[in-house]
Amino acid sequence: MLRQQALAALMLDTVPAKVAAVLALDPAGPVAPGLRLVPTAPLLGRPPRPLLVPPAEVPRRSLHTAEGRAALLHAIAHIEFNAIDLALDIVWRFPDLPEDFYRDWLRIAREEAQHFTLVDDHLRTLGYAYGDFAAHRGLWDMAEKTADDVLARLALVPRAMEARGLDVNRGIRDKLVQAGEVAAGPILDVILRDEIGHVAAGNRWYRHVCRERGLEPLAAEAELAARYGAPKVRGPFNLEARRAAGFDAAELAALLGR
Ligand SMILES: [Fe+2]
Ligand SMILES: [Fe+2]
Repeated sequence: MLRQQALAALMLDTVPAKVAAVLALDPAGPVAPGLRLVPTAPLLGRPPRPLLVPPAEVPRRSLHTAEGRAALLHAIAHIEFNAIDLALDIVWRFPDLPEDFYRDWLRIAREEAQHFTLVDDHLRTLGYAYGDFAAHRGLWDMAEKTADDVLARLALVPRAMEARGLDVNRGIRDKLVQAGEVAAGPILDVILRDEIGHVAAGNRWYRHVCRERGLEPLAAEAELAARYGAPKVRGPFNLEARRAAGFDAAELAALLGR
């Protein structure tokens, strides 16, 4: 059952094992939406490295040095690795959603594994690898905070954190390319293309759950952001990418008015 396999992959504690398990999932397999699953190991098997520290303690490095550029690529690899975990988590944790919900997030988990591999492979050509720098645990913290409610998860992870990735992608790509990391350009382009699809899935399922609960999406989102202490959404925004990901005019207006 795919949801069981997603949980098993989430509990794996080495990076290559997790990536391989996700790439081996057969997205056409049986989903079993009604299964109630219970983890049999500490959730989120964590590789011993990278060292996880509070966001403020992640060292910032200049892009004028090779180490600084590697550190930025490492931060991207870390986001992608966390994104694998987040996609697997939504699959096993929340029962009784339509089968397509689970297939969407399994496809996303797969794409996150591909993104991770692209960035990590490139990092290796520079003489580094995932785990070499300290990283923060902000993304997984939000997953833990929203573990009790799929609507909160959708509002605060794909519709907020992943959507933020759409906003910052171009700036990061340009900085890396200008600093001589030309190979990072096409990698960031693939990530942006796929992430539009991830945020689109977040929007689609967020609206689905809102409809089922009789909630107005914008009002519900403001309420969830306050209740779960979501960080304030700040611009500048990539409105074109957000539009392509299905944010409607009212949502974009709310964003710009914040
Ligand atoms: Fe990604
Ligand atoms: Fe994503």
